[in-house]
Amino acid sequence: MPTDTLPNPEKSPERSSGELIRLEQVTKRFGDNTVLDHLDFSVDAGKHVTLIGPSGSGKTTILRLLMTLLKPDEGTITVDGQKLFPATEKERREARKQIGMVFQQFNLFPNMSVLRNITEAPVTVLGLSKDEAVERAEGLLDMVGLADKCDARPAQLSGGQQQRVAIARALAMRPKVLLLDEVTSALDPELVAGVLDLLRDIARTTDITMLCVTHEMNFARDISDQVLMFDSGRVIEAGAPEKIFSEPEHDRTREFLSAVL
Ligand SMILES: Nc1ncnc2c1ncn2[C@@H]1O[C@H](COP(=O)(O)OP(=O)(O)O)[C@@H](O)[C@H]1O
Ligand SMILES: [Mg+2]
Repeated sequence: MPTDTLPNPEKSPERSSGELIRLEQVTKRFGDNTVLDHLDFSVDAGKHVTLIGPSGSGKTTILRLLMTLLKPDEGTITVDGQKLFPATEKERREARKQIGMVFQQFNLFPNMSVLRNITEAPVTVLGLSKDEAVERAEGLLDMVGLADKCDARPAQLSGGQQQRVAIARALAMRPKVLLLDEVTSALDPELVAGVLDLLRDIARTTDITMLCVTHEMNFARDISDQVLMFDSGRVIEAGAPEKIFSEPEHDRTREFLSAVL
């Protein structure tokens, strides 16, 4: 695949080492429900970290906080040293540019062509010229195997194709970190493998940092540097995938894995 179209942040000491994402003492409540309680959590630059754990444990909430779709009640969040919370609107907008997300439900703009879905934010948020944005989008569509779908509307595509467009859309912003929230859960079973293979390629051929939530344990085992077992808003166990999947220490991790594997 043409790697020149992939986000490839120059390798510099600050970027290739140290914490890219940092949550400190983050608390998030919905009414009386405290979903995250003084959570400390970080992801190092260039690493692929997977969050596993039962439904309702707060995994999506972490990703939504990073996307600034939610605000924490307490605590601080930084991305590559830039403030996300607390922060001024301007600081938050800048920090937010470092982050791309792919959702379970694709969330493409239904009334825009595939090409426009991908060029929209690079033009409006990054200030690329239309030509630059189109060139970047075409390269990415080629990479995800949809070069012939530029003019299609999302509704004319299969779920797997829509998710490929969503991945291309996220990468078009050249984010330093890609957040993936159960991106194959809404797909028909025969379409899952293709999307996971694309993500494996991106993990292997780029130095983008990845934070994934997935129930695809083989995929998690393949791509992850670190797996975090999450329960009730807390990381109860963390380690290399071989360790977590083969010799989990915590009863909750064992129970969870025996239910999903
Ligand atoms: N917008 C919201 N309003 C109220 N409660 C929410 C909202 N989003 C999530 N929650 C609650 O927060 C908890 C964690 O949810 P979530 O982060 O989606 O978990 P997970 O992704 O691990 O399944 C759940 O109890 C859920 O009901
Ligand atoms: Mg979720």
